[in-house]
Amino acid sequence: MGGVDLVGLAADVGTPVFVYDEAHLRARCQEARLAWGDGVAYATKAFLCRAMAALAHEEGLFLDVSTGGELHVALKAGVPPDRLVLHGNNKSDAELRTALGSGVGRIVVDSFDEFDRIERLACGAARAPQVLVRVTPGVEAHTHEFVRTGQDDSKFGFGLASGAAAAAVRRARKLEADGVLHLVGIHAHIGSQIFRLDAFDAEVEALGAWFASLGLDELCLGGGLGVAYVEGEDAPTITDWAVAVKDACRRVGVPPHVRVTAEPGRSIVAGAALTLYTVGTIKEVPGIRTYVSVDGGMSDNPRPVLYGSGYEAFLPQRAAAERPWAATVVGKHCESGDVLVADAHLPAGTRVGDILATPVTGAYGLSMASNYNKVPRPPVVFVADGRHRVVVRRETLEDLTRLDE
Ligand code: LLP
Repeated sequence: MGGVDLVGLAADVGTPVFVYDEAHLRARCQEARLAWGDGVAYATKAFLCRAMAALAHEEGLFLDVSTGGELHVALKAGVPPDRLVLHGNNKSDAELRTALGSGVGRIVVDSFDEFDRIERLACGAARAPQVLVRVTPGVEAHTHEFVRTGQDDSKFGFGLASGAAAAAVRRARKLEADGVLHLVGIHAHIGSQIFRLDAFDAEVEALGAWFASLGLDELCLGGGLGVAYVEGEDAPTITDWAVAVKDACRRVGVPPHVRVTAEPGRSIVAGAALTLYTVGTIKEVPGIRTYVSVDGGMSDNPRPVLYGSGYEAFLPQRAAAERPWAATVVGKHCESGDVLVADAHLPAGTRVGDILATPVTGAYGLSMASNYNKVPRPPVVFVADGRHRVVVRRETLEDLTRLDE
């Protein structure tokens, strides 16, 4: 991967470890920039550290940050504030103060309470913030209910059907007249891990005519493009997605001068990484199944237990080997739900001590990782041109008591 031998890398840096192919990350950023144009943002919630923030910025993407924490890391990475977009359904005074004080490029306003807060806090700001209004278009994407966000019953945004979205635009225009903010556009996001482009068509159809009537210059349609995790899945490319959305915008009469953008997270980073583990124990339950336990688990990848997500597994030292052996890959945590790959296929003769890889773990793995059972979080390594560099170090046992008073 990136010209680096993964078994040798595991010996050098230990396991578990997240390994990202830097060329792959850059290629996806470049594809997004080309397909969507200036304004497209990388959704940092999918995977964020200083190296990733810097890389996305170098490749010409804005960065979408949804908390003061993500904002802090992006600023620490040296991303200019005007290249940041701040999200969140419950932004605190402190988060808004930082955003206003540093001059973030866009604030996506999510509620009437937030308008009140901006009105109160923006008075002293050096410059009125550029604002988008987040709208829930009333579209249900075909994805896990935990990651659906476009439906009317949502904690996010202003409902289109109820008239709340129109009221929010009126409020924003009043604040604009008072010099508090500039209303630049509308934002919507219908969910995540969406394979069907017709869901995005539905989003544009729900919003397009109303948006066109507002005479605004920006329409951000959120993230959400799915990626293939397991054999047999097939996802549209970032380019397919952008073409479909832009066609739909044209069809429904969004004026050609409008900056139509998106904020992909998963589709930029998921396929760029894999996780390396070491097999520690193998237990056969006769007539039932075989458990292959590795040295990580739900603390570095909670997606299987949270969403029932599937992954593949293979042995890098025998990457091309047939995988006829059915097993369940589990972690080292103290609960039975700690499953990484429920129906893994592995090479015959998989043994204790083997390095086992789960591909497509670049999104929402480390970013949702925990210290459950006081397991230190894995490091992140970028590989490129036959070399590796550690961009996030492994947590140590000392780190586990760092916050104790
Ligand atoms: N924009 C907004 C406003 C979002 O809420 C999200 C994701 C994105 C963009 C990026 O979406 P993406 O392109 O990554 O689908 N933890 C879940 C995914 C949660 C997504 C949250 N919002 C998972 O592991 O599947």
